[in-house]
Amino acid sequence: MACGIVAVVASRKGALRKPLGEVIRESLKSLEYRGYDSVGFAIITDNGLVVRKSKGMIDSVTAKLGFSEFDGLVGIGHTRWATHGPPSDRNSHPHTDCTGKIAVAHNGIIENWNELKEMLVRKGHVFKSDTDTEVIPHLMEEFKNKGMEPYEAFKATISLLKGAYAIAAIDIDAGNKVFFARKTSPLIVGIGDGANFLASDIPAFLRYTRKIIVVSDDEVGYVTSSSVFIEKLIKKGDKGIWISIDIGKRLRTVEWTPEMAMKGGYPHFMLKEIHEQPQALASTISGLGEKLDDVVKVISAANKVVLVGAGTSYHASYLGAIFLNNLGEVFAQPIISSEMKWHIKSLSEGDVMIAVSQSGETIDTLLAAREAKDRGVKVIALSNVIDSAIPREADLVVYTRAGPEIGVAATKTFTTQVLVLSVIAVKVAKYRGIVNEGASEAHLRAIRSLPETVNKIISKYEAKSKDVAKLMASKRSAFFLGRGYGLPVSMEGALKLKEVAYVHAEAYPAGESKHGPIALVEDGFPIVFTAVSHEEAELIKSNVEEMRARYAWTIAVTPKGDEGHLKNVEERFTMPELPVTAASVAYVVPHQLIAYYTSIIRGYDPDKPRNLAKTVTVV
Ligand code: M6R
Repeated sequence: MACGIVAVVASRKGALRKPLGEVIRESLKSLEYRGYDSVGFAIITDNGLVVRKSKGMIDSVTAKLGFSEFDGLVGIGHTRWATHGPPSDRNSHPHTDCTGKIAVAHNGIIENWNELKEMLVRKGHVFKSDTDTEVIPHLMEEFKNKGMEPYEAFKATISLLKGAYAIAAIDIDAGNKVFFARKTSPLIVGIGDGANFLASDIPAFLRYTRKIIVVSDDEVGYVTSSSVFIEKLIKKGDKGIWISIDIGKRLRTVEWTPEMAMKGGYPHFMLKEIHEQPQALASTISGLGEKLDDVVKVISAANKVVLVGAGTSYHASYLGAIFLNNLGEVFAQPIISSEMKWHIKSLSEGDVMIAVSQSGETIDTLLAAREAKDRGVKVIALSNVIDSAIPREADLVVYTRAGPEIGVAATKTFTTQVLVLSVIAVKVAKYRGIVNEGASEAHLRAIRSLPETVNKIISKYEAKSKDVAKLMASKRSAFFLGRGYGLPVSMEGALKLKEVAYVHAEAYPAGESKHGPIALVEDGFPIVFTAVSHEEAELIKSNVEEMRARYAWTIAVTPKGDEGHLKNVEERFTMPELPVTAASVAYVVPHQLIAYYTSIIRGYDPDKPRNLAKTVTVV
């Protein structure tokens, strides 16, 4: 899964107006969504390398270990989501070498750690943890013992590693430098004033700078307080030569503000991000402009289109495929990224893949995109994170502009993804002459009004969602049923409920529900029906009655005007009548609110669902 790493190098004590330990604590707090089973830091202080780490959540560990009391010019920090070795004090990062001079924080998995560890143990190195990461400081030490300078020893170490990694390493003998390397796991440099940063994600250093450089795969380098050096090994025959990277060309400024990455008065990021949807949708709409023209042309000319994604991004992909099939009359198929391997052979030149990923780093989606590219398929990335791995490797990129999403449960990134996919489909339909100007304008008008529409839905239904959540909180299982566009919206509703409230929730095509799932229905069993149009509402009518006849507790998210023939449901969210495009975005909002409040009533923290991490960078 994911872990979060941070590193800071300051020019002088107080350059950041607070002790380095406090800067690291704050930065880790912004990355808590990436892992939260253990936390640690290493700082080079006047008294040498100080490492403090422990199992537990950031707030309690950093208070217990007194992070804020430590100062220095160079430090690294880590928040962990365990992969190798259970969460424990000894397995927490950073990890050190035998001399106690080198400390390393790592996100990813070193696949060949076992053989490297055996080799190092034979040479006399003593390991203090069960982690794959610990081989890194010991390898650096080993190369230094052979006479290499610290940075050369770091590069030699990296060349031995197989797997995925973002690494930050400090060494007392290297002075005020942080070494870094990246393969697959995300790593970003922040260029500040009097200090430079490294982190797994931008919010970690947004308080200090918006200037970033995204480190690419296979790059290594170091940061000092005033400089950044990056190089890459290029293969020439059977030799390799190091090429230094022109960082001027890679410098970007992100539009995000620190406030966007903080809770802004809301008790949880999830609730804040649900409420931010009007703004996220407005910003995404305004960012689309003419940029879609190439995407629309490529899709319109495609033999077939596959949309790949994981979790919520798969649900957006599913809606995207229905939009393209139904509105654009283009053959489109949604595929779960990790299943793509079994479908890839059907793709070839002339086909198009839309790789949907809010983080742009989900490994399964990245691998699916790579395999598709290898087969000559054009890849279009849809992501929320500028210059992340999938956009960097894609032929064309469209960004949602939802701002940073910190809650592990995707909310505003789902609605903005669906918005973008609906606009693409409407434009494809227009480009291919399937809909006329008037029909396409009707969709686009409703899509442009989504910020206002979603705002009204939140105001109208937040209290009711809380009421529904009170009863939902006492249930063990629930069904989410829908047809057509209502199905992926239901799938997203079920995912939200299970991931943040731990209520077993299953989405099913409503028409299929009587072929098995109905066997589970008994008195009070919750069933949430979603129909985004009158046509879908008409079709689910009989399914509602079948479930009511078994005394299910029925909840309907359906358009205004369907109250009559769905009059018997116990709970009703009457939604505005909208074209299917805009409705597929807006109708998920009650689902998000019900999931959030059910989680709260059951006493959980919706921002940190157990066993989950925001970005999944292991297969
Ligand atoms: O960053 P991505 O969109 O690629 O992430 C995909 C999934 O990991 C993500 O949607 C996950 O399912 C969320 N927890 C859903 O709320």
